[in-house]
Amino acid sequence: MRIRILGSAAGGGFPQWNCNCGNCRGIREGSIQAKPRTQSSIAISANDTDWTLFNASPDIRAQLESFPELQPARRERDTAIRAILLVDAQIDHTTGLLLLREHTEPWEVYCTAPVKEDLSNGFPIFPILSHFRGVHWHEVRTDGTSFAMPHAPGLTFTAVPLKSEAPPYSPHRHSTVPGDNIGVRISDSNTGKSLFYAPGLGHLDGQTIEHMAHADCLLVDGTLWTDDEMIRGGFSERRGAEMGHLDQSGTGGILELLKKLDRPRKVLIHINNTNPILDEASPQRRVLREAGVEVAEDGMEIQL
Ligand code: MLT
Ligand code: MN
Ligand code: ZN
Repeated sequence: MRIRILGSAAGGGFPQWNCNCGNCRGIREGSIQAKPRTQSSIAISANDTDWTLFNASPDIRAQLESFPELQPARRERDTAIRAILLVDAQIDHTTGLLLLREHTEPWEVYCTAPVKEDLSNGFPIFPILSHFRGVHWHEVRTDGTSFAMPHAPGLTFTAVPLKSEAPPYSPHRHSTVPGDNIGVRISDSNTGKSLFYAPGLGHLDGQTIEHMAHADCLLVDGTLWTDDEMIRGGFSERRGAEMGHLDQSGTGGILELLKKLDRPRKVLIHINNTNPILDEASPQRRVLREAGVEVAEDGMEIQL
């Protein structure tokens, strides 16, 4: 399978429009060694023709333009995106659906029942899209069963419920239910290789660790270097844990686990603009390099 990173930043992107943190200011001024990044989304295909979009970011228009293979131009209106899978109902992962309203048929959208509920009520994208060609919803279950998508030949999917955060407009905001956030194992039936994708990972439970240990590649939550990064910078009152994002560097942080895993290629994705790892010359980035952990960037491709 081919995995194309369309957007590697967390919500807000990098630089974020109203942010003057060291990174955002630094990249605008050209005083740090860093690359701009759009908001969280990837695309996967096992045959180079039929692509599944994972999350639809507010930056989708620029992301599609940056990857011409998604526009095969076989007819007047065309796209190579055959299906869309959403890992949560957050703004950075779903707003792009509105920007795909010109599609000539209903979108095949895969998400859990709680995500569908949020996108039908608190953030009513699905009802809005019903005034265009609409959404053909497929329920993603989190009971460990694998599923195939008719529009994604050669791939098998398994959703893992993750303890993270539901969006502010969700009725489960402060008491998440299984399915508010998922990680997804995607395996290629030809190569036998698998990816574990989890851009919002708030807690490492046994099932998640098991999936991570057996994957050939990880694309996992790289939001924050330290749990109190947003508080110390004066950008938020909430710790990473309260936002559903496990930090990298702390005790019990994701780096501790990644260092122990021998099998997978390890790539962080959904990087917040405050994260010092965005600066390629930072000591934190060196720590990652020495631990064999990569940082996703827009346009990066992974072949499994
Ligand atoms: C998150 O990942 O915590 C959210 O996407 C933040 C946001 O975009 O508001
Ligand atoms: Mn996010
Ligand atoms: Zn910033």
